[in-house]
Amino acid sequence: MILYVKIIMENVDMCGIVGYLGKKVNISRFIDLLSNIEYRGYDSCGILFQRNNTLTLKKYNNLLQMRNNIKSNIKSDLILGHVRWATNGDSSLKYAHPIQSINKKVSVVHNGIVTNADELRNKYLSNYKHIELDTEIIANYIEKNMYMGKEKAIEQLIGKIEGSSAICLSFENDKSFYCATKDCSLIVGKGDKGFYVSSDICSIKNQITAYQKLENDKVYKLSSSGLFVGDQKIKNWIFLSYDRHNLAKKYKDNLINEIKYQATSSSKILSIYVCNNDVTFNFSDEFNSVLKSVPRIYIVGSGSSFNAGLIGKYFIEKYTGIMCLNMFCSEILYNEYYVDKDGAYIFISQSGETLDILNSCQKILRSNKKVIIITNNEFSALYNYDCSKILLFAGDEISVASTKTYTSSTIILFLLAVYISKLRGGKDACKYINKLKRLPNEIRKILSKMQEIKKIANRIIKFEKIIFSGDCLDASVLREADLKFKELTYINSHSILLDEIKHGELAVIDEKTLVISLFANNLYKNKFESGLNLIKARNGSVIAFSFNTEFNIDGLCFDDFDSDLLPIVSIIPFQLLSYFVAKKLNNNVDRPRNLAKCITV
Ligand code: AGP
Repeated sequence: MILYVKIIMENVDMCGIVGYLGKKVNISRFIDLLSNIEYRGYDSCGILFQRNNTLTLKKYNNLLQMRNNIKSNIKSDLILGHVRWATNGDSSLKYAHPIQSINKKVSVVHNGIVTNADELRNKYLSNYKHIELDTEIIANYIEKNMYMGKEKAIEQLIGKIEGSSAICLSFENDKSFYCATKDCSLIVGKGDKGFYVSSDICSIKNQITAYQKLENDKVYKLSSSGLFVGDQKIKNWIFLSYDRHNLAKKYKDNLINEIKYQATSSSKILSIYVCNNDVTFNFSDEFNSVLKSVPRIYIVGSGSSFNAGLIGKYFIEKYTGIMCLNMFCSEILYNEYYVDKDGAYIFISQSGETLDILNSCQKILRSNKKVIIITNNEFSALYNYDCSKILLFAGDEISVASTKTYTSSTIILFLLAVYISKLRGGKDACKYINKLKRLPNEIRKILSKMQEIKKIANRIIKFEKIIFSGDCLDASVLREADLKFKELTYINSHSILLDEIKHGELAVIDEKTLVISLFANNLYKNKFESGLNLIKARNGSVIAFSFNTEFNIDGLCFDDFDSDLLPIVSIIPFQLLSYFVAKKLNNNVDRPRNLAKCITV
């Protein structure tokens, strides 16, 4: 039983890997690279480095501790680091990576899950009684079998493990890394100083000029003479076309910089996908003809990506008349009976690495090829799938809470709706596209109200119960507002359709309750007002953002906005609100607790 629990704990690693092999560099410079990937996990971290032919392994609670404890002038030519994230169980240093084999001949950093770890241990490592974690099983299996050759032992292990994993190994007395992956991203980059390994190119992109995305089930050896699979030297490096834009970091927190960047990211999307008032997506003729006649569209995602899909449903139904359904990834995974073979599926994932989305997308692709992927990460596992794809081009999102990738997803879904409408003979595409050109300006107008929103944030903290509630499409926007609020402030809130409050929810409304609302995408003003009155009549308070000047309410009214763009921009006041409340509570807005950028479990 203990063994089972511990394996589950290990399985909750999201984690980030970074490795360096080349000329001697200061360890402190390497820690900078690890901190670029810290968004993937910040429960513990570890580093292994070679100096004078000796390997040193250090584990810390966080990167700051690592920085403060490793002398800044130490240099090394082989460094392997890891950041770990856990959802439950402890985050003690014994679970931090790199993890070494019993005789310390093998050190491994590992992302992902070995789902058959227990079975592997019983079958191949039965004498290793104290081994508990799947990563320990990897290290010890390799150590035990390296007599047959390091690559051979790794290849054999990769053939046996189930689940998704990326591993990078370092061996005693060997100036090389050995890497392998199974449905987990791992990239090798080369730069002026040497080679890098990373689970996300964003951590190393300023150091490298070219990269290789490692393929599933192959064993790679990285040494000073290059990257090899067996005797074959990899030659066809991909030169970096990656957008190296760095946000103008006006504010200390990435989150607020990213919220403000939405004016720029929106105009960037338009410059990429709109030409001469026409939307262009790189779909095949065959896929275009599918879109011409498809009877239903499913939009699938988790968290903020699911919420963006709710806005997409509205756009697709409004502009194309095609019936559209939203689904969580898990609804697809655990429904054993039904895949709609006629419908088309849109999968949204900013990271492109969320395990649930990978599994659900694979499940659909097995029987239905009418799939579009929307992601911000062209290096992700999802982006590798064989189907139609759209990139968000939102730039790096360093803050763990999604903001600009959410709005970018909604803009892409708007464009997709217009695109499909045009394919089906719709005549209004031009008109809608013209409207979108106003988007960056509309976003700037909202951002100019930051100080007013900050004042509202100061009033929220005294309430014990927070409910996000509105009607029609506003309820979908408020669902994302609620998620952002919880993620950043840690205050217990929930969201519900305003029209549903009268069916039971009123029981919890009292003077300690604040309902945060929105009036933007709603044609039913009287109904909305009567919904709010039910709350006020039970001594609940209401604060709202309104985009209708006739609607006078406690909160903030934004005037002169294009109603067709409100489904996209009306989330921004709530992003700011969550940011200001979180700051007031002294929370770390870039690294909120218990959150990870990509959920690989
Ligand atoms: C959003 O702030 C969260 N980080 C989370 O809800 C996220 O949207 C969800 O985990 C899905 O991630 P994905 O878009 O990378 O698949």
